[in-house]
Amino acid sequence: MKQQREHWGSKLGFIMATAGSAIGLGSLWRFPYIAGQNGGGAFVLLYLFFTLIIGIPAFIGELIIGRAAQKGAIGAYTELSHGSTHWKLLGWLNLLTSFIILSYYSVVSGWGINYALMSLSNFTAGRTPEQIKAIFNTVYISGDINIFWLFIFMLMTAGVVYGGIKKGIEYWSKMLMPALFAILIGLFIYSTTLPGFKEAAKFILYPDFSKLNAGSILSALGMALFTLSVGLGIILTYGSYMKSSEDIPKTGLIIGGVSVSVSLLSALMIFPIVFTFGFEPEAGPGLVFQTLPVLFSKLPGTLVLSTIFFVLFIFATLTSTISILEVLVSNLIEVFNWSRKKAVLISSFVTFIFGIPTALSGSGSLFKNWKAIYNKDFFATLNDLTADWLMPLSAFFTVLFISFVMKKSFSKEEFTKGTTIPKLMHTWFFLVRYVAPIAILIIILQQSGIINLSKLF
Ligand code: ALA
Repeated sequence: MKQQREHWGSKLGFIMATAGSAIGLGSLWRFPYIAGQNGGGAFVLLYLFFTLIIGIPAFIGELIIGRAAQKGAIGAYTELSHGSTHWKLLGWLNLLTSFIILSYYSVVSGWGINYALMSLSNFTAGRTPEQIKAIFNTVYISGDINIFWLFIFMLMTAGVVYGGIKKGIEYWSKMLMPALFAILIGLFIYSTTLPGFKEAAKFILYPDFSKLNAGSILSALGMALFTLSVGLGIILTYGSYMKSSEDIPKTGLIIGGVSVSVSLLSALMIFPIVFTFGFEPEAGPGLVFQTLPVLFSKLPGTLVLSTIFFVLFIFATLTSTISILEVLVSNLIEVFNWSRKKAVLISSFVTFIFGIPTALSGSGSLFKNWKAIYNKDFFATLNDLTADWLMPLSAFFTVLFISFVMKKSFSKEEFTKGTTIPKLMHTWFFLVRYVAPIAILIIILQQSGIINLSKLF
């Protein structure tokens, strides 16, 4: 018998919750700095392309799997494959990836709390742009402070998930997402008046393919999946709370459009500052924290504006971390028959412990030789491992699952149920069955050095 599950209260609530999960560090923090490191325009184009041909189709696929099974990832892959232990592993892969991402995601979200508090004490007053930028380095190397905020952030996430995500997420997403959009658009409009806007727009919108490096294609794919929360079991879990009357394809298109727009908006807000003040576009994970305070310091009402922005940043990340923790919690409840309380306590505590090496990454007080051995610090290792490898792999198996394990008639029926755009079904199925798996496979093989496409041209 199927488990009784909660369902979303309203269509708008579901859209806002899913947008809340999608919009987070991916668009606001990761996209600008990864685009900066990969030369801008050409990378952005690849990201848009992968969102369209792989991200959105896989997103729709995850919703279909979740809604059809009304279970979390492990249960859903097991049930829809009629008990296959191999496909069950895909659910575990989702769980593992979500766990790793949550551990470092919460550290970066903790920086958001840090900056909100710093904003309250007007930390930019009397400082030059260079000095404001340098403050991030102090934050990054302050391991003890980072652990503290990691703990607080995990506590907030655990508190909401423990209290029941339906009311928490739906309610807060409906309240906070419009405010986030409003402030992003406002800041974007201000950025357009900066002298560096023209150069920034050219950097972001003009594709110069010579600037792409060897790993750019895989990074663009990882980026498309990360911003849409695909390959983590999140969307599948949210789908499992859907009623069959809800429109899956439309949701996919709306969330795809919204997350791409927020990513672009955020880059077009940050790069004018980079170019106006002569910062480096390749600054790395600190980019958002280094540039936005400079922008705020130039505006009237710095204290209020900066505080509001970072509070909204915290909520944008919170609506994402809740959804990631829910992947762990829903699976632990279903697989081990744990109570929600036990599942929330154990999963958030273990995630906190695993987050500590990331919080200490900048201070170098743990794993001193990590960078010498793996060529990047612990934090960057996890960030790249999940977005560049685990999520693409998981997305690959997800699209294979829809195409070859679920019956074609079943997938199609689930796609058309409740939708006003059933005609898109053929395009979706073609993308999921042929385009997405082949494209992901080629990218992974190329990146692993097994094939070398550049020899063909
Ligand atoms: N989609 C979530 C984000 O972009 C994971 O932050």
